[in-house]
Amino acid sequence: MAGMLSGPNDNFRVINGLAAGRRFCIETLGCKVNQYESGQIAQWLLARGWRQVEPTEAADVRIVNTCSVTIQAVSKSRQSARRLARLGSSNSPSADAGLPGTCRILVLGCWATSDGAEVRSIKGVDAVVGHHGDVGAELEQLFSSWEAEGQRPKTKGQPPQEEHRVPDHDGETGVRCPVSPSFPSHQRAILKVQDGCDAGCTYCIVPRLRRRMWSKSTEDAVAEAQRLVDGGHLELVLSGIHLGAYGHPTALRIHQESAGQSPLAALVEALCRRVKGLRRLRLSSLESGDISPELLQTLVSFPQVTPHFHLPLQSGSDRILSRMNRQYRRDDFLEMVRLLEEAFDRPALTTDVIVGFPSETREDFDLTLGVVQEAKFIQVHAFHFSPRPGTAAARWHDQFIRGPVVNHRIGLLRKETAAQNLRFRQSFLGQEVEVLVEGLSAQEQEGGVFAGLRHGRCERYFSVHFQAQGMTTGQLARLRVERVTSRATFGCRV
Ligand code: F3S
Repeated sequence: MAGMLSGPNDNFRVINGLAAGRRFCIETLGCKVNQYESGQIAQWLLARGWRQVEPTEAADVRIVNTCSVTIQAVSKSRQSARRLARLGSSNSPSADAGLPGTCRILVLGCWATSDGAEVRSIKGVDAVVGHHGDVGAELEQLFSSWEAEGQRPKTKGQPPQEEHRVPDHDGETGVRCPVSPSFPSHQRAILKVQDGCDAGCTYCIVPRLRRRMWSKSTEDAVAEAQRLVDGGHLELVLSGIHLGAYGHPTALRIHQESAGQSPLAALVEALCRRVKGLRRLRLSSLESGDISPELLQTLVSFPQVTPHFHLPLQSGSDRILSRMNRQYRRDDFLEMVRLLEEAFDRPALTTDVIVGFPSETREDFDLTLGVVQEAKFIQVHAFHFSPRPGTAAARWHDQFIRGPVVNHRIGLLRKETAAQNLRFRQSFLGQEVEVLVEGLSAQEQEGGVFAGLRHGRCERYFSVHFQAQGMTTGQLARLRVERVTSRATFGCRV
């Protein structure tokens, strides 16, 4: 069955007169990997003859690809599923046209995996597909059956059909739907090359949802990258659940082989050497311990590699890092930052920090703030600790930190990062940068200095606003940075 989804060059089966003209929409929550997987599913359906529509339009199938990483992500996923389910059959074009048929609701992804029973209990949800089965085969079966029946109106409130249920959790992850997605409305395309994490951070549910370690072969990655570039994407974002574990059977550092070439270095080299027209390669995230001397040497050797690195810190306190079961300590992290700063001219460093992890003291937090200052991060995604049920840290109730304390600490991080971000951008005044042209400036509606401007992200990931006459979205433009304010950076074409 999985063979039905076995590649972009395969002849997809289109069930004449049934699939053609049917419409679907997808809502996606969560990370880049989820976005990639939604893109795969969309591409697969398009190849089957379906048409993708906006969530506001009538559809035959509405899909929500969910996230389960925090309580908030679960809540948003639940809201999306319920909202779509409420739309129900009232929103089926087939039904509108007086044809038999109804709008089906399909819930996929991490929340469907972690809380399948709850998702299945939502009235109006027709099918739930988690990660633990063969996703490709499940979707193949599901859509074939919907296309074939298409005619039998669903009884309102009918529970999801048993045969469409995901097999019970067996500890295996299997996001095996290997169709290359397309990203028609994005300038940057995501290239997923890795899945799975078995590192076991105490706050994280992901290893229970995507435990099976998987890496795309170099050949497949190069071929897919070439298709994306040929499709107009000059920039690719190399992504995975734990990108640094690419090519390894585990994300646990102590069990990773150190001999031989770094698989990630070999992949980066292959992409930069062999993908014709690839102008930029961005790495989505790297952890302390991922950056071997060999990888660093590779990264610095290819001009396509952007000097922007996302390095999730989570905490700067060794005591908290140990309780989080992170695989590095503060000094390891700062050493990684030092190596990157030595190798690149003003690398743009961004990070994630969990604030208010159980038992975090002001002293612990000050250590985190110290690392943020020392690394000169230009962006910090500071999250409240979320006691995600099913994780070890969620059970440490007696050590939870009060909300106002966490808010205050997050405020301090934001203030510090805003100042660092401004200084960083100011260091490029009068210098040239290259941006990937995106749409009109979001602030364009405000008029004033933004009126009529477009924006684009430069190599170091900050946006520059500029007059872009004659330029279209997705092109690269060289700009001189002319003005930097706390809110924005402005440039002119050179
Ligand atoms: Fe969310 Fe799953 Fe990604 S939990 S962050 S969608 S791996």
